[in-house]
Amino acid sequence: MKKVLMLKSSILGEHSQSSALLDDLAMLWQYKGVQITTRDLATDPVPLLDGELANGLRGGDALNERQTAALALSDTLVAELKQNDTIVLAAPMYNFMIPTQLKAWIDFIARAGVTFTYTDTGPQGLLSGKKAVIVTSRGGMHKDAGSDHLVPYLTTLLSFIGIKDVEVVYAEGLNMGPENAATAMANAKQALNQLD
Ligand SMILES: Cc1cc2nc3c(=O)[nH]c(=O)nc-3n(C[C@H](O)[C@H](O)[C@H](O)COP(=O)(O)O)c2cc1C
Repeated sequence: MKKVLMLKSSILGEHSQSSALLDDLAMLWQYKGVQITTRDLATDPVPLLDGELANGLRGGDALNERQTAALALSDTLVAELKQNDTIVLAAPMYNFMIPTQLKAWIDFIARAGVTFTYTDTGPQGLLSGKKAVIVTSRGGMHKDAGSDHLVPYLTTLLSFIGIKDVEVVYAEGLNMGPENAATAMANAKQALNQLD
């Protein structure tokens, strides 16, 4: 059975467009028998990485309580990544980038020796055989433009940890009037419906 991890990261709660797109996709895939795990990084946030936590994520036997808890959470998040075949990331654009909440998750799963390693020939991702789908909602239009730092960043990060099969679904122009928004959401839903 196909296993999918869905990560929501919008701060807009029930008004979130990216969360709505993930909910629609989850309903469709559940109907097809896909096993789905959903994590909402806005309602269940990962702590912001600081020096103490970064040291804690490297492990060792002299960790304080805060570091021990962070390492346990990181291990859980990495296990969740490893256990699923497909990762669907909701990526709303905030100030030309991903939400802080999604970056915090990345800081907890990008771990040397766990999800990537450095070799004599450069970095090597340690996750393999996985696919990612980025569902990115935006108020304006940024696809393939210099203002889109989000998609290049996420595809670089995913490739760095070994996920090179990445599909991107855009819902753009969501703040450019109701007609544009409705068309963008309909197009994004159609693109998601066509994923296998
Ligand atoms: C804090 C904040 C920053 C935003 N920054 C941008 C931006 O840089 N570019 C853009 O096109 N839209 C921007 N928007 C609009 C959002 O991308 C848009 O509302 C989108 O629907 C957000 O996805 P969500 O509904 O899943 O949260 C911003 C919205 C918020 C709340």
